[in-house]
Amino acid sequence: METMQEQEQITAMPRIGDKAPEFKAITTQGEINFPIDYKGEWVILFSHPADFTPVCTSEFMTFAHLEDKFNKANCKLVGLSIDGLYSHIAWLRTIKEKIKFNGMKNVEVKFPLIEDITMEVAKKYGMIQPGESKTQAVRAVFFIDSKGTIRAIIYYPLSLGRNFDEIYRALIAMQTSDEFSVATPADWNPGDDVIVSPAGSCGVAEERMNSKDELKCEDWFFCTKPLDKDEVLDKILKKTKLLAE
Ligand code: BEZ
Repeated sequence: METMQEQEQITAMPRIGDKAPEFKAITTQGEINFPIDYKGEWVILFSHPADFTPVCTSEFMTFAHLEDKFNKANCKLVGLSIDGLYSHIAWLRTIKEKIKFNGMKNVEVKFPLIEDITMEVAKKYGMIQPGESKTQAVRAVFFIDSKGTIRAIIYYPLSLGRNFDEIYRALIAMQTSDEFSVATPADWNPGDDVIVSPAGSCGVAEERMNSKDELKCEDWFFCTKPLDKDEVLDKILKKTKLLAE
């Protein structure tokens, strides 16, 4: 029987806008001090239920295949499961040596995979959701920005493999909002119109409705403007290049 304190620890859920909980951990790429080691970069910290399971294997191969694309957007990947280091090493070796999925093979996972046999990190990040499993982490995805703030969280159940195009889309959309002070509408992708901040006065609302420039207003509270795809990608990807230099 868990004590109240243990129960609270397991069910603690960091929220959007919180600073990413700190931890030190052993990974398949050596020790990390999180999030300090990633200062100035975005990080996607994600959990999976267990090594040597099929959905997780398909996800790791897909994420490893896309790692370079995420890195170019100034974003590092860090995985976690409630398994030990040797299990992680053996699983990643098996993936590289034996597994084919969706046209991918010989896939090497180069990003760190945290061993969290004590569940210390999983508990801090609300990755154990006892209704789903008391011993395995759910499929959590934490988007942490370059200042160490949690910007978005997605949770999936054990049986559902994640959509990595959506994870990349969300990352680029949040970076675009930061860089261009805009919001992004449903299903937005670079090149699509963006949403300008809401009118803050009756005067601005009136001006918006009569605007003859590039602004398109469905109504005073819903105005969009074009934002060139190359401008978005140049800014985000060039920034990464400059940071790396
Ligand atoms: C899987 O990755 O295949 C899996 C892991 C835990 C529960 C169900 C499926």
